[in-house]
Amino acid sequence: MSPAAEAVTDALRELHTRFAGLREGRLADYIPQLARAEPDAFGLALISMDGHRYSAGDASTPFTMQSVSKPFVYALALSVLGLDEVCRWVGAEPSGEAYNAISLEPDTGRPDNAMVNAGAIITTALIPDTAEAPRFERILDCLGRFAGRRLDVDEQVYASEAATGDRNRALAYLIRSTGPLPVDPVAAVETYFRQCAVRVTALDLAAMAATLANGGVNPLTGDAVVPEPVAAQVLAVMATCGMYDASGEWLLRVGLPAKSGVSGGLIAAGPARFGLATYSPRLDPGGTSVRGRAALGALSERLGLHLM
Ligand code: DON
Repeated sequence: MSPAAEAVTDALRELHTRFAGLREGRLADYIPQLARAEPDAFGLALISMDGHRYSAGDASTPFTMQSVSKPFVYALALSVLGLDEVCRWVGAEPSGEAYNAISLEPDTGRPDNAMVNAGAIITTALIPDTAEAPRFERILDCLGRFAGRRLDVDEQVYASEAATGDRNRALAYLIRSTGPLPVDPVAAVETYFRQCAVRVTALDLAAMAATLANGGVNPLTGDAVVPEPVAAQVLAVMATCGMYDASGEWLLRVGLPAKSGVSGGLIAAGPARFGLATYSPRLDPGGTSVRGRAALGALSERLGLHLM
Protein backbone atom coordinates (compact mmCIF):
# COMPACT_ATOMS: atom_id res chain seq x y z
CA MET A 1 0.00 0.00 0.00
CA SER A 2 1.36 3.49 -0.86
CA PRO A 3 2.02 5.90 2.04
CA ALA A 4 -0.93 8.05 0.90
CA ALA A 5 -3.28 5.05 0.84
CA GLU A 6 -2.02 3.98 4.24
CA ALA A 7 -2.66 7.46 5.64
CA VAL A 8 -6.28 7.38 4.39
CA THR A 9 -6.90 3.86 5.72
CA ASP A 10 -5.46 4.76 9.12
CA ALA A 11 -7.41 8.02 9.28
CA LEU A 12 -10.77 6.36 8.52
CA ARG A 13 -10.17 3.62 11.10
CA GLU A 14 -9.00 6.04 13.74
CA LEU A 15 -11.91 8.43 13.22
CA HIS A 16 -14.38 5.56 13.29
CA THR A 17 -13.03 4.48 16.67
CA ARG A 18 -12.85 8.05 17.98
CA PHE A 19 -16.41 9.06 17.08
CA ALA A 20 -18.24 5.74 17.61
CA GLY A 21 -18.65 6.79 21.24
CA LEU A 22 -20.42 10.03 20.30
CA ARG A 23 -24.08 9.46 21.20
CA GLU A 24 -25.52 12.95 20.81
CA GLY A 25 -28.37 13.67 18.46
CA ARG A 26 -31.72 12.12 17.60
CA LEU A 27 -33.01 9.96 14.78
CA ALA A 28 -35.40 11.70 12.39
CA ASP A 29 -38.91 10.64 13.33
CA TYR A 30 -41.12 12.95 11.27
CA ILE A 31 -40.78 10.16 8.67
CA PRO A 32 -41.70 7.35 11.10
CA GLN A 33 -39.82 4.61 9.24
CA LEU A 34 -36.51 6.49 9.65
CA ALA A 35 -36.83 6.23 13.44
CA ARG A 36 -36.45 2.44 13.07
CA ALA A 37 -32.80 2.72 11.94
CA GLU A 38 -30.04 1.25 14.12
CA PRO A 39 -28.92 4.37 16.06
CA ASP A 40 -25.33 3.15 16.49
CA ALA A 41 -24.69 2.33 12.82
CA PHE A 42 -21.59 4.22 11.70
CA GLY A 43 -19.77 3.90 8.39
CA LEU A 44 -17.12 5.93 6.58
CA ALA A 45 -16.06 5.63 2.93
CA LEU A 46 -13.70 7.44 0.59
CA ILE A 47 -13.17 6.82 -3.13
CA SER A 48 -10.23 8.37 -4.93
CA MET A 49 -10.05 9.45 -8.56
CA ASP A 50 -8.18 6.25 -9.47
CA GLY A 51 -11.14 4.23 -8.17
CA HIS A 52 -9.56 3.10 -4.90
CA ARG A 53 -12.21 2.32 -2.26
CA TYR A 54 -11.41 2.94 1.42
CA SER A 55 -13.86 2.30 4.23
CA ALA A 56 -14.35 1.74 7.94
CA GLY A 57 -17.31 0.46 9.98
CA ASP A 58 -20.78 0.07 8.46
CA ALA A 59 -19.90 1.32 4.97
CA SER A 60 -22.08 -1.36 3.31
CA THR A 61 -25.19 -0.83 5.46
CA PRO A 62 -28.20 0.26 3.36
CA PHE A 63 -30.14 3.44 4.15
CA THR A 64 -32.17 5.91 2.09
CA MET A 65 -30.65 8.93 0.37
CA GLN A 66 -33.16 11.58 1.51
CA SER A 67 -31.70 15.03 0.78
CA VAL A 68 -28.41 13.60 -0.43
CA SER A 69 -30.39 12.86 -3.63
CA LYS A 70 -30.89 16.59 -4.28
CA PRO A 71 -27.51 17.50 -5.83
CA PHE A 72 -27.66 14.49 -8.15
CA VAL A 73 -31.16 15.24 -9.43
CA TYR A 74 -30.06 18.87 -9.82
CA ALA A 75 -27.16 17.55 -11.93
CA LEU A 76 -29.62 15.65 -14.10
CA ALA A 77 -31.81 18.74 -14.55
CA LEU A 78 -28.76 20.84 -15.47
CA SER A 79 -27.62 18.20 -17.97
CA VAL A 80 -31.01 18.03 -19.68
CA LEU A 81 -32.02 21.72 -19.58
CA GLY A 82 -28.81 23.73 -19.09
CA LEU A 83 -27.93 26.21 -16.35
CA ASP A 84 -29.90 29.21 -17.66
CA GLU A 85 -33.18 27.33 -17.98
CA VAL A 86 -32.81 25.67 -14.56
CA CYS A 87 -31.98 29.08 -13.02
CA ARG A 88 -35.28 30.45 -14.34
CA TRP A 89 -37.01 28.12 -11.91
CA VAL A 90 -34.68 27.71 -8.98
CA GLY A 91 -32.08 30.13 -7.59
CA ALA A 92 -28.55 29.59 -6.35
CA GLU A 93 -28.42 31.65 -3.16
CA PRO A 94 -28.03 30.23 0.34
CA SER A 95 -31.39 30.48 2.07
CA GLY A 96 -29.97 30.79 5.59
CA GLU A 97 -32.97 28.72 6.65
CA ALA A 98 -33.89 25.13 7.47
CA TYR A 99 -34.29 22.52 4.71
CA ASN A 100 -38.08 22.57 4.93
CA ALA A 101 -38.50 26.38 5.05
CA ILE A 102 -40.84 28.11 2.61
CA SER A 103 -37.80 29.70 0.98
CA LEU A 104 -39.37 31.45 -2.01
CA GLU A 105 -37.63 34.64 -3.23
CA PRO A 106 -40.09 37.54 -2.81
CA ASP A 107 -39.27 39.14 -6.18
CA THR A 108 -39.12 36.06 -8.45
CA GLY A 109 -41.13 33.44 -6.56
CA ARG A 110 -38.29 30.98 -7.14
CA PRO A 111 -37.03 28.79 -4.31
CA ASP A 112 -33.65 30.05 -3.10
CA ASN A 113 -31.69 26.99 -4.17
CA ALA A 114 -31.99 23.34 -5.20
CA MET A 115 -30.70 21.96 -1.89
CA VAL A 116 -33.70 23.03 0.21
CA ASN A 117 -36.91 21.02 -0.18
CA ALA A 118 -38.79 23.73 -2.13
CA GLY A 119 -36.00 23.94 -4.70
CA ALA A 120 -35.56 20.18 -4.88
CA ILE A 121 -39.26 19.67 -5.58
CA ILE A 122 -38.92 22.05 -8.56
CA THR A 123 -35.74 20.35 -9.72
CA THR A 124 -37.58 17.03 -9.72
CA ALA A 125 -40.50 18.62 -11.57
CA LEU A 126 -38.12 19.84 -14.29
CA ILE A 127 -36.95 16.31 -15.19
CA PRO A 128 -38.74 15.34 -18.42
CA ASP A 129 -41.49 12.73 -18.11
CA THR A 130 -42.26 10.74 -21.25
CA ALA A 131 -43.88 7.39 -21.98
CA GLU A 132 -40.53 5.87 -23.02
CA ALA A 133 -38.65 7.41 -20.08
CA PRO A 134 -40.89 8.21 -17.10
CA ARG A 135 -39.50 10.90 -14.77
CA PHE A 136 -38.71 8.61 -11.87
CA GLU A 137 -37.05 6.00 -14.13
CA ARG A 138 -34.74 8.70 -15.47
CA ILE A 139 -33.89 9.77 -11.93
CA LEU A 140 -33.28 6.22 -10.68
CA ASP A 141 -31.13 5.42 -13.71
CA CYS A 142 -29.06 8.58 -13.22
CA LEU A 143 -28.58 7.99 -9.47
CA GLY A 144 -27.43 4.44 -10.29
CA ARG A 145 -24.90 5.68 -12.84
CA PHE A 146 -23.48 8.06 -10.22
CA ALA A 147 -23.19 5.12 -7.80
CA GLY A 148 -21.90 2.67 -10.42
CA ARG A 149 -24.65 0.12 -9.88
CA ARG A 150 -28.43 -0.16 -10.27
CA LEU A 151 -30.18 1.19 -7.13
CA ASP A 152 -33.66 0.48 -5.80
CA VAL A 153 -36.32 2.09 -3.61
CA ASP A 154 -37.02 1.28 0.03
CA GLU A 155 -40.80 1.02 -0.39
CA GLN A 156 -41.46 1.18 3.36
CA VAL A 157 -39.60 4.48 3.73
CA TYR A 158 -41.35 5.81 0.63
CA ALA A 159 -44.78 4.86 2.01
CA SER A 160 -43.89 6.35 5.39
CA GLU A 161 -42.92 9.71 3.88
CA ALA A 162 -45.88 9.70 1.48
CA ALA A 163 -48.17 9.18 4.49
CA THR A 164 -46.69 12.03 6.51
CA GLY A 165 -45.30 14.46 3.89
CA ASP A 166 -47.91 17.20 4.04
CA ARG A 167 -45.38 19.95 4.64
CA ASN A 168 -43.71 19.14 1.31
CA ARG A 169 -47.11 19.00 -0.37
CA ALA A 170 -47.85 22.42 1.13
CA LEU A 171 -44.57 23.72 -0.29
CA ALA A 172 -45.57 22.37 -3.71
CA TYR A 173 -48.92 24.15 -3.57
CA LEU A 174 -47.16 27.39 -2.58
CA ILE A 175 -44.75 27.00 -5.51
CA ARG A 176 -47.71 26.48 -7.84
CA SER A 177 -49.36 29.62 -6.48
CA THR A 178 -46.31 31.80 -7.17
CA GLY A 179 -45.49 31.10 -10.80
CA PRO A 180 -46.16 29.35 -14.09
CA LEU A 181 -44.03 26.22 -13.65
CA PRO A 182 -44.77 24.18 -16.81
CA VAL A 183 -45.28 20.96 -14.87
CA ASP A 184 -47.25 19.97 -11.82
CA PRO A 185 -45.17 20.39 -8.62
CA VAL A 186 -47.80 18.50 -6.64
CA ALA A 187 -47.27 15.37 -8.75
CA ALA A 188 -43.53 16.03 -8.55
CA VAL A 189 -43.66 15.77 -4.74
CA GLU A 190 -44.58 12.09 -5.02
CA THR A 191 -41.57 11.53 -7.31
CA TYR A 192 -39.44 13.55 -4.88
CA PHE A 193 -40.55 11.22 -2.05
CA ARG A 194 -39.45 8.23 -4.18
CA GLN A 195 -36.05 9.75 -4.97
CA CYS A 196 -35.55 10.40 -1.23
CA ALA A 197 -36.29 6.70 -0.58
CA VAL A 198 -33.62 5.39 -2.98
CA ARG A 199 -31.46 2.93 -1.07
CA VAL A 200 -27.67 3.35 -0.93
CA THR A 201 -24.68 2.56 1.26
CA ALA A 202 -21.87 4.89 2.38
CA LEU A 203 -19.68 3.28 -0.32
CA ASP A 204 -22.34 4.11 -2.94
CA LEU A 205 -22.50 7.72 -1.74
CA ALA A 206 -18.70 7.99 -1.81
CA ALA A 207 -18.79 6.84 -5.46
CA MET A 208 -21.50 9.41 -6.21
CA ALA A 209 -19.51 12.22 -4.59
CA ALA A 210 -16.36 10.99 -6.33
CA THR A 211 -18.15 11.22 -9.69
CA LEU A 212 -18.90 14.89 -9.03
CA ALA A 213 -15.30 15.42 -7.90
CA ASN A 214 -14.07 13.69 -11.07
CA GLY A 215 -15.77 16.09 -13.49
CA GLY A 216 -18.88 13.92 -13.87
CA VAL A 217 -17.04 10.68 -14.76
CA ASN A 218 -17.60 7.78 -12.37
CA PRO A 219 -14.09 6.69 -11.29
CA LEU A 220 -15.24 3.09 -10.75
CA THR A 221 -17.00 2.53 -14.09
CA GLY A 222 -15.57 5.23 -16.38
CA ASP A 223 -19.14 6.26 -17.21
CA ALA A 224 -19.46 9.98 -18.14
CA VAL A 225 -22.63 10.54 -16.10
CA VAL A 226 -22.89 14.35 -16.49
CA PRO A 227 -20.79 16.90 -18.42
CA GLU A 228 -17.82 18.43 -16.59
CA PRO A 229 -19.35 21.95 -16.30
CA VAL A 230 -22.46 20.44 -14.70
CA ALA A 231 -20.36 18.65 -12.06
CA ALA A 232 -18.66 21.97 -11.25
CA GLN A 233 -22.01 23.80 -11.05
CA VAL A 234 -23.40 21.21 -8.63
CA LEU A 235 -20.30 21.36 -6.42
CA ALA A 236 -20.60 25.16 -6.32
CA VAL A 237 -24.19 24.97 -5.07
CA MET A 238 -23.26 22.23 -2.57
CA ALA A 239 -20.48 24.48 -1.24
CA THR A 240 -22.78 27.45 -0.66
CA CYS A 241 -26.11 25.73 0.14
CA GLY A 242 -25.56 22.01 0.83
CA MET A 243 -25.63 22.30 4.61
CA TYR A 244 -28.61 24.71 4.73
CA ASP A 245 -28.20 27.44 7.36
CA ALA A 246 -24.96 25.79 8.56
CA SER A 247 -23.34 26.07 5.09
CA GLY A 248 -21.16 29.08 5.95
CA GLU A 249 -19.70 27.57 9.09
CA TRP A 250 -19.21 24.22 7.34
CA LEU A 251 -17.24 25.86 4.52
CA LEU A 252 -15.27 27.84 7.06
CA ARG A 253 -14.31 24.86 9.18
CA VAL A 254 -14.36 21.83 6.84
CA GLY A 255 -13.82 23.59 3.51
CA LEU A 256 -15.51 21.05 1.19
CA PRO A 257 -18.74 21.03 -0.86
CA ALA A 258 -21.12 18.77 1.05
CA LYS A 259 -24.70 17.54 1.38
CA SER A 260 -26.51 16.00 4.31
CA GLY A 261 -29.68 13.91 4.57
CA VAL A 262 -32.07 13.11 7.44
CA SER A 263 -31.50 9.36 7.28
CA GLY A 264 -27.92 10.07 8.44
CA GLY A 265 -25.99 10.14 5.16
CA LEU A 266 -23.47 12.90 4.51
CA ILE A 267 -21.25 13.42 1.46
CA ALA A 268 -18.34 15.72 0.72
CA ALA A 269 -16.25 16.11 -2.41
CA GLY A 270 -12.63 17.13 -2.95
CA PRO A 271 -12.53 18.30 -6.59
CA ALA A 272 -10.12 16.16 -8.67
CA ARG A 273 -9.19 14.23 -5.49
CA PHE A 274 -11.90 12.15 -3.78
CA GLY A 275 -15.51 11.56 -2.80
CA LEU A 276 -16.31 11.01 0.85
CA ALA A 277 -19.38 9.71 2.64
CA THR A 278 -20.46 8.87 6.14
CA TYR A 279 -23.51 7.17 7.57
CA SER A 280 -24.73 7.57 11.13
CA PRO A 281 -28.40 8.30 11.80
CA ARG A 282 -28.30 10.45 14.95
CA LEU A 283 -28.88 14.03 13.77
CA ASP A 284 -28.22 17.53 15.05
CA PRO A 285 -31.15 19.99 15.12
CA GLY A 286 -30.36 21.07 11.53
CA GLY A 287 -30.84 17.52 10.21
CA THR A 288 -27.15 16.59 9.80
CA SER A 289 -25.53 13.45 11.18
CA VAL A 290 -23.67 14.32 14.40
CA ARG A 291 -20.96 11.70 13.93
CA GLY A 292 -20.71 12.38 10.22
CA ARG A 293 -20.19 16.09 10.81
CA ALA A 294 -17.57 15.41 13.49
CA ALA A 295 -15.74 12.76 11.44
CA LEU A 296 -15.60 14.80 8.21
CA GLY A 297 -14.43 17.87 10.14
CA ALA A 298 -11.64 15.88 11.79
CA LEU A 299 -10.69 14.16 8.52
CA SER A 300 -10.44 17.49 6.72
CA GLU A 301 -8.14 18.79 9.43
CA ARG A 302 -6.03 15.64 9.67
CA LEU A 303 -5.48 15.21 5.90
CA GLY A 304 -5.45 18.93 5.06
CA LEU A 305 -8.51 18.73 2.79
CA HIS A 306 -9.79 22.32 3.22
CA LEU A 307 -10.01 23.82 -0.27
CA MET A 308 -9.30 27.42 0.68
O1 DON B 1 -38.24 16.11 2.28
C1 DON B 1 -37.89 15.67 3.36
O2 DON B 1 -38.24 16.18 4.42
C2 DON B 1 -36.98 14.45 3.39
N1 DON B 1 -37.38 13.50 2.43
C3 DON B 1 -35.56 14.84 3.14
C4 DON B 1 -35.06 15.94 4.06
C5 DON B 1 -33.60 15.89 4.31
O3 DON B 1 -32.95 14.88 4.14
C6 DON B 1 -32.99 17.11 4.90
N2 DON B 1 -31.58 16.98 5.10
N3 DON B 1 -30.83 17.04 5.99
